[in-house]
Amino acid sequence: MTPRPKALVTGASGGIGAALALAFAERGYDLVLLARRSDRLEEVAAGTARFGASVETLVADLSTPGGLAGAAERAAAGDMDLLISNAGAAGYAPLRDVSAAEVDALWRLNSTAPVTLAHAVLPSLLAKGGGSIVTIASLLAFSSGVTAAALPARTLYVAAKSATVAFTRTLATELVGTGVQATVVCPGQVATEWSGGANRNRPDAMSAEDVATATAVAVARGEAVCVPGLSGPEALDRLQQAERALLTQGSQSSLAHRYAKSL
Ligand SMILES: NC(=O)c1ccc[n+]([C@@H]2O[C@H](COP(=O)([O-])OP(=O)(O)OC[C@H]3O[C@@H](n4cnc5c(N)ncnc54)[C@H](OP(=O)(O)O)[C@@H]3O)[C@@H](O)[C@H]2O)c1
Repeated sequence: MTPRPKALVTGASGGIGAALALAFAERGYDLVLLARRSDRLEEVAAGTARFGASVETLVADLSTPGGLAGAAERAAAGDMDLLISNAGAAGYAPLRDVSAAEVDALWRLNSTAPVTLAHAVLPSLLAKGGGSIVTIASLLAFSSGVTAAALPARTLYVAAKSATVAFTRTLATELVGTGVQATVVCPGQVATEWSGGANRNRPDAMSAEDVATATAVAVARGEAVCVPGLSGPEALDRLQQAERALLTQGSQSSLAHRYAKSL
């Protein structure tokens, strides 16, 4: 009998992470479920029983150096086929109102953790010649230049999620030909406990289950960027074209004329 593949899912005690745990259990994965709330992890683990998944729970706070180090050690153990870095916190506030300790914790959780865990799991995936590294980012990663009253004060969150998008897209190109793939998922608003459950009453919010389905499809297809609400690939294609144009046009030996005159 072929052994079941194994997935490490962070932030699996609720919301998108719990839906991902169920979705991948249904698709034949055993699971390592990580979060801070052990009772909620046990509930999610119990929910996957009908799919015959064997589940290990790991209580860790990824916003702390010790918690992240323990999670990285588990990711590096050599038995993982899929890493889903989903744990995150909004911390929406103007940067001036965020304490230095909060900056450190939020950055570690939202940005450092996905990189550290990917780095930890990668050697064993490369040795096997297969597997996936998935990170749940956010559509807000593309909102840095957007001023809109409806958007929250989000500098730190957007910076962390954009870093995640750039990390995964670049990693995906680095991994071409290895059998290992990287996928970043960028949902819009999702009806979870996120940000005090603010999206739960929004008619335009997607369900966590739909985000999990999109993630599973994107992993199966080997997509580098998955936007669950985006119908066609045109917007992502245009983004890539714009990046290429910026790289080529901006990489010149001479100073651009518009900067040549001193003020
Ligand atoms: N909901 C949205 O509108 C939305 C939109 C775009 C992207 N996202 C992204 O989707 C991901 C999941 O969000 P969600 O909507 O499912 O939110 P959620 O319902 O609040 O779930 C967040 C998950 O992360 C875990 N977590 C939070 N802080 C943690 C820490 N310090 N260490 C370990 N685990 C921690 C939580 O578990 P514990 O509290 O038990 O630790 C929980 O399982 C996040 O990365 C978020 O950025 C969400």
